[in-house]
Amino acid sequence: MIEADLLITECRLATMTEGGAPYGAIEDGAILIRDGVIVWIGARHDLPDYTAVRTDRLEGRWVTPGLIDCHTHLVFGGDRSGEFEQRLEGVSYEDIARSGGGIVSSVRATREESEDQLFASAMKRLLGLKDTGVTTVEIKSGYGLERDSELKMLRVARRIGREGGVRVRTSYLGLHALPPEHKSDRVAYVDKAVDDILPAAHAEGLVDAVDAYCEPIAFSVDEVSRLFDKAKSLGLPVKLHADQLSDSDGAALAARYGALSADHIEYANAAGIRAMADAGTVGVLLPGAFLMLRETKTPPVELMRRHGVRMAVATDCNPGTSPVASMTATLNLACVQFRLTPEEALAGATRNAAHALGINDDVGTIEVGKRADLAVWDIQRPAELSYWLGAPLLAVVYVNGVLL
Ligand code: NIG
Ligand code: FE
Repeated sequence: MIEADLLITECRLATMTEGGAPYGAIEDGAILIRDGVIVWIGARHDLPDYTAVRTDRLEGRWVTPGLIDCHTHLVFGGDRSGEFEQRLEGVSYEDIARSGGGIVSSVRATREESEDQLFASAMKRLLGLKDTGVTTVEIKSGYGLERDSELKMLRVARRIGREGGVRVRTSYLGLHALPPEHKSDRVAYVDKAVDDILPAAHAEGLVDAVDAYCEPIAFSVDEVSRLFDKAKSLGLPVKLHADQLSDSDGAALAARYGALSADHIEYANAAGIRAMADAGTVGVLLPGAFLMLRETKTPPVELMRRHGVRMAVATDCNPGTSPVASMTATLNLACVQFRLTPEEALAGATRNAAHALGINDDVGTIEVGKRADLAVWDIQRPAELSYWLGAPLLAVVYVNGVLL
């Protein structure tokens, strides 16, 4: 006899578990939930003896794992629509960055805003993600670039985790750009990020992972290695913005440190992809940034398939390269631009995104023992989640078995 708080029934399940039917689908499924955790899942006619305090009948709707947006810069001040206009006139992202705009202009705006202001604007953007089924979101720092402002961003991210109705994982992205006051002294900034800011953020419990931007316009392999060595010594997992604009050997660097993920990877080389496969590093695809930068070099999807590299898909929601706040639109872009199948795209926003955050024991599939984070959709087939571009498809979500 299973004693449950909640029975969810009369639904179709895309469990997203590996190895079985496409999407791990169960027609006419049922889920029993106790204390926010899935305690039984299967076909309705196989339901064991149970008691449930409540029953939710979903009238044949599809249920997927709650979507996981595993790469965002959701917290930032201001916006960069002016640079968007410049880029439409032909100025490149790198040129804007080199002339003191780009990430650094968001740094100026972010430093000026209070925690309450940053929280309010991030919560608005979060609405777009939640309306597209997101129940877990990763949020990076990286627009503070000095101690107080980096801590401020990470505190805002933690507050979103407490008050925003989503699970939040934070990443410290201190090596995102060189702050203007360190323009003539990179070494001192890297020292500060490694020896001062990261330990302070970690001591306050603000860091779930450490990220960096490895690129000629950002930080070198050696600089990133210093940060990653520190992360390792603090017991923190790492991830990397790798090979987005050029082949910078980022994929291999990420793999060398056993990174959870290497993200962007449009220009990653074959040896780097093989190294990622060996290290179990997830390839995080960010088709919103690809679109907004009018990039033409697609990430090596076929190579990742061949080597069995897990592929995740995320919005990269940020003010510069990806002002994207829709997870389902992102699935569409991943299919259209990178030729993922709709099933691969959905796996990239569920199971594989959980791996990219190191939380695959808790979320990412509908399985016994995992948290009951579920998205319920008004669709006829799971492929619709990738097919529509901007259509409202979500009915409701559950986080920890609680209907939101
Ligand atoms: O993921 N690549 C670096 N970081 C962001 C861009 C941030 C920005 O331009 O503000 C990205 O694309
Ligand atoms: Fe990013």
